[in-house]
Amino acid sequence: SIVSPLLRTGYHFQPPMNWINDPNAPMYYKGWYHLFYQYNPKGAVWGNIVWAHSVSRDLINWIALEPAIYPSIPSDQYGCWSGSATLLPDGTPAITYTGITRPDVNYQVQNIAFPKNASDPLLREWVKPPELNPIAVPEAGVINATQFRDPTTAWFAGGHWRMLVGGVRGTRGLAFVYRSRDFKRWTRAKHPLHSAMTGMWECPDFFPVAGAGVGNGLDTSERGEKYVLKSSLDLTRYDYYTVGRYDERKDRYVPDNPAGDYRRIRYDYGNFYASKTFYDPAKRRRVLLGWANESDSVPDDKAKGWAGVHAIPRKIWLDPSGKQLLQWPIEEVETLRGKPVTVAGKVLKPGEHFEVTGLATAYQADVEVSFEVSSLDKAEPFDPAYDNDAQKLCGVKGADVKGGVGPFGLWVLASGDLQEKTAVFFRVFKDGYGKPKVLMCTDPTKSSLSPDLYKPTFAGFVDTDISSGKISLRSLIDRSVVESFGAGGKTCILSRVYPSIAIGKDAHLYVFNNGEADVKVSQLSAWDMKKPLMNGA
Ligand code: FRU
Repeated sequence: SIVSPLLRTGYHFQPPMNWINDPNAPMYYKGWYHLFYQYNPKGAVWGNIVWAHSVSRDLINWIALEPAIYPSIPSDQYGCWSGSATLLPDGTPAITYTGITRPDVNYQVQNIAFPKNASDPLLREWVKPPELNPIAVPEAGVINATQFRDPTTAWFAGGHWRMLVGGVRGTRGLAFVYRSRDFKRWTRAKHPLHSAMTGMWECPDFFPVAGAGVGNGLDTSERGEKYVLKSSLDLTRYDYYTVGRYDERKDRYVPDNPAGDYRRIRYDYGNFYASKTFYDPAKRRRVLLGWANESDSVPDDKAKGWAGVHAIPRKIWLDPSGKQLLQWPIEEVETLRGKPVTVAGKVLKPGEHFEVTGLATAYQADVEVSFEVSSLDKAEPFDPAYDNDAQKLCGVKGADVKGGVGPFGLWVLASGDLQEKTAVFFRVFKDGYGKPKVLMCTDPTKSSLSPDLYKPTFAGFVDTDISSGKISLRSLIDRSVVESFGAGGKTCILSRVYPSIAIGKDAHLYVFNNGEADVKVSQLSAWDMKKPLMNGA
């Protein structure tokens, strides 16, 4: 397929060129947000990994600096893989990261680095003390040396620093615990923090959350009412978390839901991986950053000269139910909004759609919409044969399959003739007890006429009370990204799409209802989004 430069994102984090993967060591330091990321300086495919470095005042406008961490010592000479930052009590940051020590196999150890000059707010140079590195090695017979990586931000409890490193034992994914008194010498605790039969845990993340419904975040070393443990599963390439309790004396984590390890929650039901959170003291919030790979082919990535973006940073906090997190784009993204276009009190009868007109850049926009369903009577019965698998269900009942209550939602990045469109929608079912069950779905099957694209439907259930008929949707549209938030951030789906006609000025936005029940658009606001400073590109 032919890739248009107009498909390069406008306001999602991206370097000017080449390959990008995981966000690393996000932190707030002396008035600046720092973001490092896995980067290939030599091309648009994974390889030659260094830590590229960008700084920002608002997590939206980014200035690129020189790479901060790159192979320079024996214990990282074949690659500097993912890691995290911890702010020490005197205010200095420390970075811990995985180093590759052999050219033939990806033999992994953990390293530490400190700023060369802590009075530089831009933290441009880092030193890796030779007397300390590596700080952790995979002991023979105990740790699989090729699956031992991605140290977390450390937290201080009971006189010790602790940090996690992801790993696997057989098929059991786990988070090793390392302890230190001085942040320099680290020893492994006998028991992992937690484990589950999921395969390798990449990029673990572990953090406290304040009470249910409390929006404020907590520093990683503060005591939480609850804790969140997340791992990125190499096997499925998705990020999963559970909410639970942390026993600081035993250094063990226990998920609240005993079935939690097998019914884990996803941050995002689309293309979102290797995420990491940090505590932002400037706004007392916890912010989630994640990587979205391309869904395009490798030859196309090479032809474009770039691959990968990051999601818009999301504020996260514990839902009032205490069972899951809520996620919402950080408020700073709203500074990119132009004048709003609004629609209010418009009813969509079965099979109807309308265009949201007046947007100059429907290809780069932010849309917030509140729907109200007239009645749930027509909701389709929920078929247990789908195994509670939202993605499977949506794969069969896509946006063009007529339903009872829904599908209703948005067609984004749509061509004027509707040959191309990406549907973001809800569909309501009724389970065996008559209880409504809400499915949220992104259906990109019609997103492009180009061949060779990866276009699976993405879906998750939304644990929301729809008995009032009300549900909201927000979509951040950015040329080849559709990043959506259902019911105030209960269910999120980031999808990459590459239209062939619905590009630039030829992209439109519609609202549709393909169900049998009337759906009212109580309120819709849509904004053109300006382009922020994006690493000089
Ligand atoms: C996740 C990951 C990490 C690793 C890094 C290498 O995407 O595989 O486990 O540290 O990427 O770039």
